[in-house]
Amino acid sequence: MYLTKEEEKILNGERGATYQKAIEILVALGDIYDADRLISIKSAQIAGVSYKTIGDAGLEWISDLKGKVAVPSILNPAGMDLECWREMGISEEFAKKQKEIIKAYKALGVKIECSCTPYNIYDNIASFGDHIAWSESSAISYANSVIGARTNREGGPGALSAALIGKTANYGFHLDENRKPDVLIKVEGELRDSDYGALGYIAGEIVGDKVPFFRLKSKPSKDELRSLGAAMAASGAVALYHVEGVTPEADRYETPRDAITIEEKQIKDVYKSDTSPDLIAFGCPHSSVDELSRLARLLDGKKVKKEVWVCTSRAIKDRNPELVKRIEKSGAKVFCDTCMVVSPASERFKCMMVNSGKAHKYVPNLCKVKSIMATTEKCIEEALKD
Ligand code: F3S
Repeated sequence: MYLTKEEEKILNGERGATYQKAIEILVALGDIYDADRLISIKSAQIAGVSYKTIGDAGLEWISDLKGKVAVPSILNPAGMDLECWREMGISEEFAKKQKEIIKAYKALGVKIECSCTPYNIYDNIASFGDHIAWSESSAISYANSVIGARTNREGGPGALSAALIGKTANYGFHLDENRKPDVLIKVEGELRDSDYGALGYIAGEIVGDKVPFFRLKSKPSKDELRSLGAAMAASGAVALYHVEGVTPEADRYETPRDAITIEEKQIKDVYKSDTSPDLIAFGCPHSSVDELSRLARLLDGKKVKKEVWVCTSRAIKDRNPELVKRIEKSGAKVFCDTCMVVSPASERFKCMMVNSGKAHKYVPNLCKVKSIMATTEKCIEEALKD
């Protein structure tokens, strides 16, 4: 891989051990994937934040790094709400470790905005055609597919290394040739709301890491596209998809010849369940202002009878105090900086109901909690039942 003189110097340790390690990681990735050079990035989104997932080894690794990130960098959700962690049922011991992780990232100049939806917080974090290094799978999918920015599925260390150097290796989804669709997915029936998450749940299992091209009968909103991509990234490894007439790069490429059809019945089957939940959780990916408004409307003047969580980013919560107040008046709790999957707090429940295909896929494996998927309205109906 070609390196500039400046990059060679970093590799030789002239800027210290942290930057040397960081560029070594980028060069190793570049060599594995046959990159020709490093390219500048606009922003980084760094996974590996929850103490539940990285443990003491991860904390030690981050704490040992000395330096500052070179581009705007944001964190993935942590294992708890950084303010209301007691309300979540998080232990003192976990909270102490989680705060140390956050402190270590802060020392590196990373913004302490723990969210998988950075595009809903900062207007300029990624635009069409920008190269970025993001590592949360739903954020990657949204950036590539809906924004038209360019990122690979970075691991936590890869994204942090890219953030420190301000560059990433030029391979994979940074290149035009890897962004063309591989398989056409025709979808029967009109979809709305969580149907897109259910569709993603099915489609991801079928296509794995290919690039699907959807032909839909309905026009998804940005939140619905987000649900579709998040679910496909969880049930498969989809980092980029196109939707005919909707996403920005869909008309750049020829429609693939390989085609499959997903029937309405397959989508309805994802909602099948035979139990009732003791936790109902929204906000996977983190709730947008639109989702908060919708939940507030559905909960106005009502009292929930079950534990209800709404997960969002702190920025969205802080900017929308009235919506948060309306939701919390019903007894539902709005948590930030974390989510129902990466926080150990959800592990005390037996069965979680979600309106997200991604959470539906991850909750049984990562939280060891049974999961039911339902539409947003059904979730609220269940929350109001005795
Ligand atoms: Fe975000 Fe957590 Fe879901 S990180 S996409 S809310 S699993």
